[in-house]
Amino acid sequence: MPSSNNGQTSIGPAGDSAHSLGHAGDGAAHLSARGILIDYAKPGSREVTTAVQDCDLSVDRGDFVCLVGPSGCGKTTLLNAVAGFVPIAAGALELDGRAIPGPGPDRAMVFQQPNLLPWRSVLTNVTYGLELSKKIKKADARRRASDLLELVGLADVAQHYPAQLSGGMQARVNLARALAVDPELLLLDEPFAAIDAQTREVMQAELLRICAARDATALFVTHDIAEAAFLADRVCVFGPRPGRIVKEIHVPWERPRDHEIRRTPEFAALCEEIADVLYGAIAEAREMQLEGAAR
Ligand SMILES: Nc1ncnc2c1ncn2[C@@H]1O[C@H](COP(=O)(O)OP(=O)(O)O)[C@@H](O)[C@H]1O
Ligand SMILES: [Mg+2]
Repeated sequence: MPSSNNGQTSIGPAGDSAHSLGHAGDGAAHLSARGILIDYAKPGSREVTTAVQDCDLSVDRGDFVCLVGPSGCGKTTLLNAVAGFVPIAAGALELDGRAIPGPGPDRAMVFQQPNLLPWRSVLTNVTYGLELSKKIKKADARRRASDLLELVGLADVAQHYPAQLSGGMQARVNLARALAVDPELLLLDEPFAAIDAQTREVMQAELLRICAARDATALFVTHDIAEAAFLADRVCVFGPRPGRIVKEIHVPWERPRDHEIRRTPEFAALCEEIADVLYGAIAEAREMQLEGAAR
């Protein structure tokens, strides 16, 4: 079923991979998407909605790649395909050279809404996925969850319940829960979109620290340009639906990063560069909608 490497984690240190546009092209990308087509069936009809078309993306081990794009352009759909939740209609979607056949513990998804189990403590929310997989003993699961809560700064509230936590704390549990299964690839779909701006900035820096500590590889969807610029080694901008990546923008700074970076002229210039491509794509999407409506 799962396309996993049997839980092996030979992830290299963050920053050791080719953080250039695309990857080296030697076929060694951790995640490789080529010519991806994803259709959704329209209910009660033979027609389909094409969400993603001719989409190429490659992510090396240790990379942090952000996807930005107009609303409805297929970012979540692509992430869901990588997670194995949504099938592709054409193209090749591979993890370490093997086609992704479905969901697997080698990939963990972090959704915008934490959806924590309200009747479980913080600690047992984090152990939940491990209990389901039944691959490790209960005591080991609790130890691993405790270590992760330490890492995300929640050791003190391990016995609390989700309702007792702030939005930022819930986002941390959400992250710890995804990390608990020791994924090779973290898939994050606007995980901080629902939290306030200050907490979001704190969480962004925390995420970079956590990814560095875990040598994580991350594919992160956001609509927030500054978030993408702060987090990513590469920002991939989607064009309008059917979505494909129209431009990849290299981010030059080492990770983890300090908040100071946000106040530099280089950061402002990078945000502007991303915005130019993104707003071009949004304008194109609007034109296509108007043309569609006029037809
Ligand atoms: N489960 C679904 N069934 C049918 N259409 C869907 C489904 N999920 C998404 N879509 C459509 O696919 C397109 C891309 O959606 P999505 O991937 O959610 O975009 P984004 O995350 O970029 O906002 C949209 O037109 C959306 O309406
Ligand atoms: Mg989405």
